[in-house]
Amino acid sequence: MQESEAKKEIDRLKEEINRHNRLYYALDAPVITDEEYDRLVRRLETLEADLPHLITPDSPTQRVGATPLDSFGSVKHSLPMLSLKNAFDESEAVKFDEAVKRGLGLPPDASVEYAVEPKMDGLAIELVYENGLLVTGATRGDGVIGEDVTQNLKTIRSIPLRLLEEKPLPLLEARGEVFMPLEGFKRLNAERDENDEDRFANPRNAAAGSLRQLDSRITASRRLDLFFYGIGNVEGRAFATQFETLEYLKSIGLKHNPLARVVSGINEAIRYHHEIEEKRDSLDYWLDGVVIKVNDLGQQLSLGATSKDPRWALAYKFKPEQGRTRIIGIEAQVGRTGVLTPRAILEPVRIGGVVVKHATLHNQAEVSRKDIRIGDTVIVQRAGDVIPEVVGVVMDKRPVETEPYRLPERCPACGAGVEKKELGGAREGSALVCTAKLACPAQAKRAIEHFASKGAMDIEGLGQGRVEQLYDKGVIKDIADIYGLRHEQLTTLEGWKDKSASNLIAAIEKSKHPLLERFIHCLGIPGIGAHLSSVLAERFGTIGLLMEADEEKLVATPGIDTEKTRNIVGFFKESGNQKIVERLFASGVVPGRTEPIKQGRLSGKVFVFTGELTGFTRDEAGRLVASLGGKIASGVGKKVDYVVAGQEAGSKRAKAEKLGLKIIGEEEFKMLVWGG
Ligand code: IVH
Repeated sequence: MQESEAKKEIDRLKEEINRHNRLYYALDAPVITDEEYDRLVRRLETLEADLPHLITPDSPTQRVGATPLDSFGSVKHSLPMLSLKNAFDESEAVKFDEAVKRGLGLPPDASVEYAVEPKMDGLAIELVYENGLLVTGATRGDGVIGEDVTQNLKTIRSIPLRLLEEKPLPLLEARGEVFMPLEGFKRLNAERDENDEDRFANPRNAAAGSLRQLDSRITASRRLDLFFYGIGNVEGRAFATQFETLEYLKSIGLKHNPLARVVSGINEAIRYHHEIEEKRDSLDYWLDGVVIKVNDLGQQLSLGATSKDPRWALAYKFKPEQGRTRIIGIEAQVGRTGVLTPRAILEPVRIGGVVVKHATLHNQAEVSRKDIRIGDTVIVQRAGDVIPEVVGVVMDKRPVETEPYRLPERCPACGAGVEKKELGGAREGSALVCTAKLACPAQAKRAIEHFASKGAMDIEGLGQGRVEQLYDKGVIKDIADIYGLRHEQLTTLEGWKDKSASNLIAAIEKSKHPLLERFIHCLGIPGIGAHLSSVLAERFGTIGLLMEADEEKLVATPGIDTEKTRNIVGFFKESGNQKIVERLFASGVVPGRTEPIKQGRLSGKVFVFTGELTGFTRDEAGRLVASLGGKIASGVGKKVDYVVAGQEAGSKRAKAEKLGLKIIGEEEFKMLVWGG
């Protein structure tokens, strides 16, 4: 491709990606899937990699830094980022209102106008825009000095790298709360379970942990979000009210929480608090209260602030979603990779309108640290649909004869021995793991559930309960058995009707052509979650090439370290796994890209294959070329750019030689598609 053409394409992609960002984040009306979006970004990355001088700082690819940092720099906030006073009940909210009126010299029966907003439970950040361009992003830190997390904040797609304003202000400091949407939080923890990594206790910790990563590629994979709620220093514009500030921020692409509004008087603010508390479980993010702010900025100024918090604002907290109950038993659950997780069986307790009977205890270290015992009275916390957890023991209620809890020495599902496994990475300590692998029914069931789950093969109707039943009845013992399921097998089982059986068979059929990244993910290779599966799919292009990739090729892949490399190579070397993958293929499961990229590294290049390739089938090689934008011709002719000659290449090779075409071997072909 000519450089001028490439530039046009780059500009077009940037504009299109930015348009999708706005549709997705600012307007909440996406028109393409995440996969399609990722494909656009990857296409832009490929073009920019060839022409790095065309990269601009506001390119969507610049959201992710290439190399991890050694440490974060520090940033001094030009105006301190204050905290908020808390109120826990109505009378405290009323007291706040009285103090505001006193401070403003208003009579007790006056009605103050308040801007009321949800209080997101994440972490506060400040973004500095100079002439509309994002230059710095920092955490709140101690309020005066925060950490420079610019590169990580840039990975958040709802943060514009350039403001949507024709004449941007010379300086704008925007403040907001970064959080992790619950959907992403649940997915992240599920993935961490799979990879034997510690779960995040709640979305707030997950957001903070994700934003404070030295490698911004990790932050990018976490899909954080944020709402803006205020400003710091501004040059070139003055505002009259808090709400006007919010509306202005929104107009330049910095969205605020859509539930924010203006009310008159403290009673309306209290009603707002109740209304949002009712709503909190239906939202996709954590709230811990509402913030009540005097709307008029002139009034804010005259009220002023103490050294810690402003006198014009109040955090009116929700009732914590906690309850007190007794642990009547502790059971060990076996995860997909064999890790034993303790779970408390509780005397049922109603928390926030839901009856809770179980709570996770996470791992042995957690149980020991909190010294949780059977018989203990404990505080249980639940929020939204996050798994309830035991936050602590009420020690003075402990019965006399209790013993510290230890996970069992044999797997509760299959009786096999358990072994200690040191957990690497961000995780400290060790886990107990059942040694029976897929011979353990619990691990086998979890593997099937994982295979069928939404982020993997997405087979609707094959959830936990049904996997349990089908496995216990001996109908499916491994993932490949799924494709041998017959309608009449299902209808003989309890709870299945003609329609439910047909639906499942149809869903299984529909799953036969997954995207390559989903297929890789569904195999459950240790340490390879959804994100790395995408990276591998992008790099290798076909499952055949991934299966034959050697350590050297794998370890050169971003995010794939030596341990993961060993896991991948080990997985495909194992004969049991090979057989399962072969049986999947034999049942018609064909992973691949659904949509060839029109413009790619091999755009406009025409390939012909002759002879036999050893590393992959003809079909796979063809798909790989197509995925990079190239074309396959059936015969040798002048328009052919590369003739790929495998073993025992025949007449096509001879003809190509005559025409003087470029003939390459399998190794050279791999170099071409993978890059050097
Ligand atoms: S205003 C001086 N508004 O709550 C006013 N804060 O407990 C500063 N927060 O550090 C904050 N949602 O991280 C404000 N709508 C909102 C908020 C909000 C969440 C957080 C923020 C702040 C903390 C104070």
